[in-house]
Amino acid sequence: MYILGIWDGHDAGAALIDGSKIIFASNEERYTNRKLEVGFPYNSIKAAIRHAGIKPSDIDYVAFSTTDLSKTIERLIPSLKESYYLFRRRKIPKPHLERLRRMIKYTITLYGRNAILDQINKSIIAKYLKKIGIDKAEIIPVEHHIAHAAGAVFTNNKREQLVITLDGLGDGLSGSISVFRDSELTRIKSFPSRDSLGILYEQVTSILGMRELEDEGKVMAMADYSYPFKLEENKLRDLIKLDHGDIKARLHPAKQYLHIDSIAWQTPREQLAYMAQQLLEASIVRLVKYYIDETGISDIAMAGGVFSNVKANMKLRELDDVESWYVFPHMGDGGIALGAALYVAYQKLGKTYYKMSPYLGDSYDYNYIEDILKSNNKISYEYEGDEAAHHAAELLSENMYVLWYNGRMEYGPRALGDRSILARSDDDTVKDNLNLYVKKREWFQPFAPSILTEDIDKLLIYDDKGKPLYMTMAYRANEENIDMLKSVVHVDNTARPQEVVKSVNPVYYELISRFKKLSGYGVILNTSFNLHGYPIVNRPEEAIDTLLKTRSKYLFIDGFFIEAVK
Ligand SMILES: [Fe+2]
Repeated sequence: MYILGIWDGHDAGAALIDGSKIIFASNEERYTNRKLEVGFPYNSIKAAIRHAGIKPSDIDYVAFSTTDLSKTIERLIPSLKESYYLFRRRKIPKPHLERLRRMIKYTITLYGRNAILDQINKSIIAKYLKKIGIDKAEIIPVEHHIAHAAGAVFTNNKREQLVITLDGLGDGLSGSISVFRDSELTRIKSFPSRDSLGILYEQVTSILGMRELEDEGKVMAMADYSYPFKLEENKLRDLIKLDHGDIKARLHPAKQYLHIDSIAWQTPREQLAYMAQQLLEASIVRLVKYYIDETGISDIAMAGGVFSNVKANMKLRELDDVESWYVFPHMGDGGIALGAALYVAYQKLGKTYYKMSPYLGDSYDYNYIEDILKSNNKISYEYEGDEAAHHAAELLSENMYVLWYNGRMEYGPRALGDRSILARSDDDTVKDNLNLYVKKREWFQPFAPSILTEDIDKLLIYDDKGKPLYMTMAYRANEENIDMLKSVVHVDNTARPQEVVKSVNPVYYELISRFKKLSGYGVILNTSFNLHGYPIVNRPEEAIDTLLKTRSKYLFIDGFFIEAVK
């Protein structure tokens, strides 16, 4: 049985599963080269079908998500979705009626789904699918927060879980609490769109001059540059109240935006960022504590865009009440396609666990790559096979950064050693070079480390509550060895690590192990392989293009060593 999950909103994508495994998952941005693409995920669906070696007519079910009023309007009038995309990403000048536009958006998005909207959306989706030959499958709508929850709960191998979803909004909700017990997923609480922790953070992001739904991580990073102050002095504090497991926003989101804007007028921006971060952390800590008490379940699973906030996640992990944590690797709406498919597998097959992998995207074979390399006269290349990982490690130890491309593309927002740019982590100059020529990150945004599993407790204050395989959790650095993490810790000495395990990432593990032999420790800097402002590269062609455009020196693609010809 084949179940295709699709998502046609912010960070559109597709995922394909069968009765036993996750076959493929990817996002549309990797094909259209537009970050966080919103168009219908034709390319991702085709890539999934191609990867599985099946025909479109072999698909039995298509799971899609979100049938609220605003999504319905977007599906009926796709140009509205496109214009909001350009507006949100600030690709167009600030419109004259920017505020009015926001007010309309914040009002329409409060309305949830119903049976009529479900039907309208099903028929629109059916039309889209027909164009690519999917005409026999049963099409099933999955509620937005159920899709988020399913992603987390059904890829986390625990018999009992407390499942928390929090985001901006979707299907009239901004969050949910569910219990997974005796193979049953039961929702015990929903939070309306109006009372959204995600929207508040998103509004602060926008007011700080950054892109909502994209730059929230920058706000989180900026917050640590504020001098600390108490929650009682936080001017945003009264906007959100938590009471007996309920979240209540004092103002309608439209009014809330104006209120925050007026606070921002008199507040240095790092302090406003601090206020948003502090309020978020305090709120979700109280919320999760409440529901752990209420349910007696201390194994928590989380999804939804709010949990891309690794510092807030850290505060949860550090709670004594929390026994284990798991954050769905593609926690934002980009992960909705897989979540929806997993939910349909649960409904139709009663299947409650699928093994997750960091690498669920496209890969290219030797001949394909060699043909590409042969046809490009701006590069020279050599096939090194297994030695490539050793060669890359040597270059890193000589203070070079390398572009590293291996096997299947990662699923989710993070590069995890298959489409990564690597450098040593104890040297600031290489970090500066990386920023100057390739990444162009804001000065206050930290890079992240990949650390061998056997070295992680030497470098970080580590615990056994969960493995950070997907860079979804922040840890405090071990001060004794902080020199090794010079270019990968934030100003507050925390880091967002990827724990590298041999069975999960064999080639990458080999690379870092060789680096350890040369330099004494198993940690390197790992940042995503992309041009500034663009999605992570997918095809070998894009990898070569990035090598040339950034005038970088060294690129590895699946055992090939490539240099630009001078
Ligand atoms: Fe969402």
